[in-house]
Amino acid sequence: MKFDKEKITMLTAYDYTTAKMVDAGGVDSILIGDSAANVMAGFETTLPITLDQMIYHTQCVVRGVERALIVADLPFGTYQSNSEKALESAVRMMKEGGAHAVKIEGGVEIEDSIRKIVNAGIPVMGHLGLTPQSIYKFGTYKVRAKEDAEAEKLLSDAKLLEELGCFALVLEKIPAELAKKVSESISIPTIGIGAGPDCDGQVLVYHDMVGMNQGFSPKFLRRYLDLYTEITGAVSQYVKDVKTADFPNQTESY
Ligand code: KIV
Repeated sequence: MKFDKEKITMLTAYDYTTAKMVDAGGVDSILIGDSAANVMAGFETTLPITLDQMIYHTQCVVRGVERALIVADLPFGTYQSNSEKALESAVRMMKEGGAHAVKIEGGVEIEDSIRKIVNAGIPVMGHLGLTPQSIYKFGTYKVRAKEDAEAEKLLSDAKLLEELGCFALVLEKIPAELAKKVSESISIPTIGIGAGPDCDGQVLVYHDMVGMNQGFSPKFLRRYLDLYTEITGAVSQYVKDVKTADFPNQTESY
């Protein structure tokens, strides 16, 4: 798709019903992101979610998908310490979760883990820029790699990930110009989130793009629906209908 200049689409899903809709909508790839920690479990960061929980979410998604490529995040602490552990985590995600590929965050620091996983025949998607599992190192969710030194490291990490055999790369919250440069410098596709229009594809968190999450409004987010308003409206109408004995009516009764 990159060579054909066809943009690649990716959205998150964490459950069967959502995965079915996202797949039916024609998205190329579904990500079981560790953003499940925020969106599904209400944690402030992605750090607390466990491998068992990510495997559970992945199993649910897999049952709902007929055509999209399924990529699952390996969560914090399951691949950084050593490459043996990284491979074990990736194997569990493929064998028990049923994912087609895993995504892991970082560059040269996790080189051994990437090499080990790729050598075992497991497709790896990289993730550079704002890597939320390192939030306590960054201290903020602001745009990354605005300074030359960080931008240079990111470019060199991207080239390394390609060399190591990653099949694609998420670029999160970096200047559009840098994302363009990275995308032109490597042959594997870049999938951007808050990284401008020149990435080879785009990813968004499903709950954000359908407007379920009112409290999160970064500049890069385009909301396609206002489901928060729709759903709270439907719920309050239901409450009203039951309280006034309007629901259920004769035709809704046996
Ligand atoms: O966890 C996630 O949803 C992600 C995307 C934001 C790329 O990593």
